[in-house]
Amino acid sequence: MTEPALTDQNPTAPRPSTSSSTTGGPGVVPSFADVPAGRPRTRFAVVGTGHRAGMYVTAITGDHADVAELVAWCDTNPGRMDFYDAEAGAALGLGGPAGLPQYGPEDLERMVAEQRVDAVVVTTPDFTHAELVARAQAAGVDVVVEKPLATTAEGCRTIIESVAATGRDLTMTFNYRYAPRNSSLREVIASGAIGTPTSVHFEWVLDTVHGADYFRRWHRRQRNSGSLLIHKAAHHFDLVNWWLDDAPARVFASAGLQFYGDENAAERGLGERPERGTGVTGDPWALDLTRDPRLQALYLDSEHHDGYLRDRDVFTPGIDIHDNMALVVDYRRGARMSYSLNAHSPWEGYNVAVNGTQGRAELTVVERGAVEVAPDGRVVLDASANPEAPGATASRPEGERLLVQRHWEPARDVAIPAGIGGHGGGDAILLMDVFRRDLRLGPDPLGRAAGYLDGVRAVAVGVAANQSLATGRAVGIDELGLGVEL
Ligand SMILES: NC(=O)c1ccc[n+]([C@@H]2O[C@H](COP(=O)([O-])OP(=O)(O)OC[C@H]3O[C@@H](n4cnc5c(N)ncnc54)[C@H](O)[C@@H]3O)[C@@H](O)[C@H]2O)c1
Repeated sequence: MTEPALTDQNPTAPRPSTSSSTTGGPGVVPSFADVPAGRPRTRFAVVGTGHRAGMYVTAITGDHADVAELVAWCDTNPGRMDFYDAEAGAALGLGGPAGLPQYGPEDLERMVAEQRVDAVVVTTPDFTHAELVARAQAAGVDVVVEKPLATTAEGCRTIIESVAATGRDLTMTFNYRYAPRNSSLREVIASGAIGTPTSVHFEWVLDTVHGADYFRRWHRRQRNSGSLLIHKAAHHFDLVNWWLDDAPARVFASAGLQFYGDENAAERGLGERPERGTGVTGDPWALDLTRDPRLQALYLDSEHHDGYLRDRDVFTPGIDIHDNMALVVDYRRGARMSYSLNAHSPWEGYNVAVNGTQGRAELTVVERGAVEVAPDGRVVLDASANPEAPGATASRPEGERLLVQRHWEPARDVAIPAGIGGHGGGDAILLMDVFRRDLRLGPDPLGRAAGYLDGVRAVAVGVAANQSLATGRAVGIDELGLGVEL
């Protein structure tokens, strides 16, 4: 298989360092049987045609075109549907747009019936997932949904009840599980090398480019994203649940908005700020949509349809999420976690330490060592374009390291196999599992494929954290009234 284009990647996210491999290491890249002759392809509709949809469109029209086909678009914005229709047409070699039918979300059920849809990919803003998933399942189709599964306890209940009532399949696309470094940590813990896990220390830092991006658009409102404790940390909480093979029991949270937003800007004397980044020069906080053809087409050229501004200034009023978050989480089988997330760090990456009864494992990842500012005052979005840039040579090199140290023994490095594609080498492997899991040769010893309960387990930590912030006390997961044993 060829390496997919990086259309999934938010252009503000660090570029994956392992993307040059097209084969991947043994153990992390599964094998699949050939498609049985004459088997019909699964008919997919994409619901939500923003940036993230690109990964799925590329997969369905490329590597997985033998098992899946696109049959319709569903979005509130015709500009973005047209964009992907043109992309799909080009990918399929049609010499023009694919001409697939377009529907608004109010016509989801009609779309399923008219286009004989088998499955939908849901890549809409987080707060819409629960309703769209439940409606799609009620209409009789399987669902592939981006994280987070939902943003509230009520949303989780909606999906739990929907799966129970319809029996339809739900694939939760937790791509971070598929990054080989994260898979390797799971293997180390599952092997028993550090004994029974007793505690986890997990720190994730988002830098002033990628972290800032969550304060520009819908994510900046808690009602849309559930805050970064759900939108972003759902990835991290899923990893911990999966690494420990455990479920959360109780959460205490502390968080604040201490860097972004108008009040912090005024306090730090930042002066008058522009409303949006497009057209602004010499400002590292400005995202200029005209400098990325994809962002321009998807957002700037489509904003006359719905007024969705992709490039709002991160110091404008109206932000009610946090940029500094700290949690204490207890797990059912007795481990505990101290977790922190910062969204204005000068570098991006994470440190995880897992203590166990027989030793300790430590995973250290630098995804972007420094944010570079070009001579024109703008930040460099893709530093890999300039190998001489400071980020590549500074004292914080991009990379990953997994160390295991058993009691009474020296630390040893654990080799991390190569991945393929974006997000630490995990996205392309995730897509294989999404589109051809039924053809897999043998089960996945890593247990990476995630379903709705994994989605609920991850979101539950964030929901409980938000309740803890509101009440000032620790919140038990059983207080959320999810109606299922996690
Ligand atoms: N796994 C990852 O690493 C990853 C990365 C990026 C985004 N995501 C997730 O993907 C989803 C989409 O993110 P994005 O950055 O592409 O957002 P986006 O805002 O760029 O795109 C969302 C699209 O949904 C459309 N939309 C809004 N409401 C809708 C509705 N009710 N019905 C149908 N369409 C609707 C919008 O018009 C837009 O085209 C989010 O849930 C996000 O958390 C996951």
